[in-house]
Amino acid sequence: MEAIKAPRGTRDILGNESWKWAYVTDTFRNVADDYGYREVHLPIFEHTELFCRGVGETTDIVEKEMYTFTDRGGRSVTLRPEMTASMVRSYLENNMASGPQPAKLWGAGPMFRYERPQKGRYRQFVQLDVEALGAQDAFVDLEIIDLSMEFYRRLGLSNLNVVLNSVGCPKCRPVYRKALQDFLKPRYDELCDSCKSRYERNPLRILDCKSPICKEISENAPSIMEYLCDECKEHFSELRRGLDRIGANVIHDKRLVRGLDYYTKTAYEILSGDLGAQNAVCGGGRYDNLAEAIGGPHVPGVGFASGIERVMLTMEAQGCSFGREPANKVYAVAAEPSAKLETMNLVRTLRMNHISADMDYMGRSLKSQMKSAGNMASYACIIGGDELAKGVVTVKNLGDGTQEELTPEQLVNKLK
Ligand code: HAM
Repeated sequence: MEAIKAPRGTRDILGNESWKWAYVTDTFRNVADDYGYREVHLPIFEHTELFCRGVGETTDIVEKEMYTFTDRGGRSVTLRPEMTASMVRSYLENNMASGPQPAKLWGAGPMFRYERPQKGRYRQFVQLDVEALGAQDAFVDLEIIDLSMEFYRRLGLSNLNVVLNSVGCPKCRPVYRKALQDFLKPRYDELCDSCKSRYERNPLRILDCKSPICKEISENAPSIMEYLCDECKEHFSELRRGLDRIGANVIHDKRLVRGLDYYTKTAYEILSGDLGAQNAVCGGGRYDNLAEAIGGPHVPGVGFASGIERVMLTMEAQGCSFGREPANKVYAVAAEPSAKLETMNLVRTLRMNHISADMDYMGRSLKSQMKSAGNMASYACIIGGDELAKGVVTVKNLGDGTQEELTPEQLVNKLK
C-alpha cells in the first residue's frame, strides 16, 4: 500500500521553520498592538452564504475556489477563503457597534482556496488580517496602509511597492462600468475566454487580466478617476495627502482592481520585487457595503491581509533576520546508567528555572551522548559516579571546551 501524502497545495511546517513563522506572527502581533488592534479568533468554517454574499458571486473565489461541503446536519459550510467577511459577521453578531468605534480587530490563521499551486500560492495558506470597522474617515485607510508598511519595515523588508487605487462606490462605479464596457465592446471578440465572461458580470476585472492581448486591448481604457463621485474623489485625495505627510512612497495604479467584490473607494496592494508571478505580499482596502451585503446595517470598514508564506519567501530572498533560532542550552549526559535518575532530576531543575534542557532516552553510550550534546546544546552537563559522590555536575562549555564542576544551584545561577 502506498503511504498517504499531504494534499496538493498544503505544506507541513516543521521545527526547522516554525520558529521563523512564530517570529513573523509575533512581529505582526506587536505592530497590531502598537496601533491599538485586538486579536480575535474566528471559526475556520462558516455558512457558505457568508462568502457568496460577502465576497461576491462573480469572484473567482466563490465561483471556483471554495472548499464547500455539506455537514452531517445537511448545512452547506465552507472553509474560509479569507477573513474579512467573518470579521464583519462577528462585528454584527457580537454587537460591536455598541463598543468603541471603530472596532479594531486582527486575526491570524489558515485560509483555503482551491487554486493551482505554485511558488507563493497554496491551497491552505496563512493570513495575518487587520480590520477597522465602523468608521469612514480616510485617516483609517491611512492607518491601515501605514500599519502594513510598518509591519514590513520591522521585518527588515525592502524592494516593496505600494500600489493604490480607488474603485469608487455603488454611486459612481456603474457609470464607469458602462464606459469601460463601451470602450471594450469593439474588440470583445478578441478578449480571452475569462474576460469575455467578465465583460457582463465584472468588467473591471478585465483591467487586471494577465493575458497579453487583454492587456493590450485595455491599455487605453478610460480611467476610473474621471468617473469618481465627489465623495470618493475627496476620500482618495485625503488619503493621498496623508500618505504624502508620512512620506509613504505609493504608486497610483489606475488599473488596480481587487479580486473580491466588496471593495469601495480604497484598494491597495503591496508587491514584492523578489517573488515571481504571485508577488502580492498583502492586499486590502475599504468595503463600506459588506455589512449590508451579509444582512446587517451600514457599517463602513477597511483592512488588509498579508500572506505569511509570501512574506517569508521575500524575507528569505532578502536575507532578513528571523531572530534567534531556539536551541537547547543544556544537554545532560549520564556517564553511567546509575546516574540516569540524577541526570533526569537535573534536567527537571533546569527546566523549572526556564533553562531549556534535554537528555538521552535512547540508551546511548557516553560518547554518543556527548555527540548529541554537541549537536543540540551550548553546554554538556555530565553526571557520573564522581559527580554523584560529590553532589556536583561537570559543566562543559561546548563553545570553547572549558570545563568546571558546579552544584546544581550554581549551575542554575550561572545559566539564568
Ligand atoms: P486577497 O488579496 O485575496 O485579499 O489576499 C490577501 C493576501 O493573502 C494576498 O496578498 C497574499 O499575500 C495572500 N494570499 C492570497 N491567496 C493566497 C494563496 N493561494 N497562497 C498564498 N497566499 C495567498 C483578501 O483576502 C482580503 N480579505 C484582504 C482584506 C482584508 N481586505 C480588506 N480587509
